[in-house]
Amino acid sequence: MRTQVCIIGAGPAGLLLGARLAKAGVDAVILERMSGDYVLGRIRAGVLEQTTTDLLRELGVHARLDKEGIPHQGFSLSFNNRLLRIDMHKLTAGQQVTVYGQTEVTRDLMQHRSAQGLLTVYEASEVALHALDSKAPYVTYKQDGRAQRLDADFICGCDGYHGVSRKSIPRDQIREYEKIYPFGWLGVLADVPPVAHELIYANHARGFALCSQRSHTRSRYYLQCGLDDKVENWPDEMFWQELKKRLPEDVAAQLVTGASIEKSIAPLRSFVSEPMRYGRLFLAGDAAHIVPPTGAKGLNLAASDVRYLSDALIAYYQGRHQEIEHYAERCLARVWRAVRFSWWFTNLMHQFPDADAISHPLQLAELDYLANSEAAQRVLAENYVGLPFDFGGNG
Ligand code: APR
Ligand code: PHB
Repeated sequence: MRTQVCIIGAGPAGLLLGARLAKAGVDAVILERMSGDYVLGRIRAGVLEQTTTDLLRELGVHARLDKEGIPHQGFSLSFNNRLLRIDMHKLTAGQQVTVYGQTEVTRDLMQHRSAQGLLTVYEASEVALHALDSKAPYVTYKQDGRAQRLDADFICGCDGYHGVSRKSIPRDQIREYEKIYPFGWLGVLADVPPVAHELIYANHARGFALCSQRSHTRSRYYLQCGLDDKVENWPDEMFWQELKKRLPEDVAAQLVTGASIEKSIAPLRSFVSEPMRYGRLFLAGDAAHIVPPTGAKGLNLAASDVRYLSDALIAYYQGRHQEIEHYAERCLARVWRAVRFSWWFTNLMHQFPDADAISHPLQLAELDYLANSEAAQRVLAENYVGLPFDFGGNG
């Protein structure tokens, strides 16, 4: 089989890329290791930047987003038993974010792809990348136990942190930066109304907590937990009790609890691999970088990679061959900004087990500064809604 672009991975990055290329008339085939149902079973963050919703809208994948997505113009930080509201809308000249689960974005993109008759090979096993530094790269894989080969002009690695694409780059051609945080996030999904209209990020001496939501009747809550903690150690009742302790009393009093429908623990990591390219292989999304979830930048960053990458590939097929040469550099400038923000927000809001006595008072001093400085709030707000694409170079 032959195609113009072979995309590895049918997560949000791969599906978005496939949709953007198809719209411009560029052929692409997606190879995905798991089944479609498995991919849709993963619960991830749920806050979309305006640039991400714009991208979905341009593709015409916005019917359900418009109906079910909830626009948010602010969020709150909780500390010292109080709430500080960050008015994103006012501080960023009218920008907002949309609460809409990543799982739903993936579902919408999958449906869009199949409605257009575009090929996704699910349950493709033993995917291997070949001849990446030549003009004729190809991919081999197994489908229903039978060996297959897909030839392409370009290969796009959208196969997440554990995928095969980044690992196919020779070690001396890549540089990786990584920070693993000494705690995890215990997440609970429950069909109870959210405790507040907007998200609450809580700094508390017992550990970080986050009140998020998926709809007016479905809530998503998180607690900072130990790296070795297990879901079994956290029966629902214990989760709710601990969450209440980490929120201001008046907020905790409003909390509606109920049976969890999903409970999982995720580690936190900052990771960047440079450059996001090797020969005819380009990386996008979690394959190239990971951010801790504080600030919900993961999916949004994948979407912005896809915007840069699809524009460069489309330019290539329109005869402008140079643009693809600048993909990695342009993309990485924005990636590092989001990595920095997620790292900063994580440091501000969590309790580090090995921290010295001065750390928590310093966090509270920074939060107090935020409460009293519009300039500081604007820095937070403009990063949270998503930095512009034309922010300028980093040199
Ligand atoms: N062969 C084919 N597919 C693979 C392989 C492989 N060897 N390895 C992984 N995949 C698939 C995974 O099964 C998954 O469906 O690649 C996909 C990668 O999807 P994601 O992990 O969702 O990554 P990405 O599309 O970059 O999305 C980024 O989604 O994962 C979240 O936290 C992440 O929010 C961020 C956003
Ligand atoms: C979520 O709703 O899952 C969520 C929201 C905001 C974050 C992280 C996760 O910063």
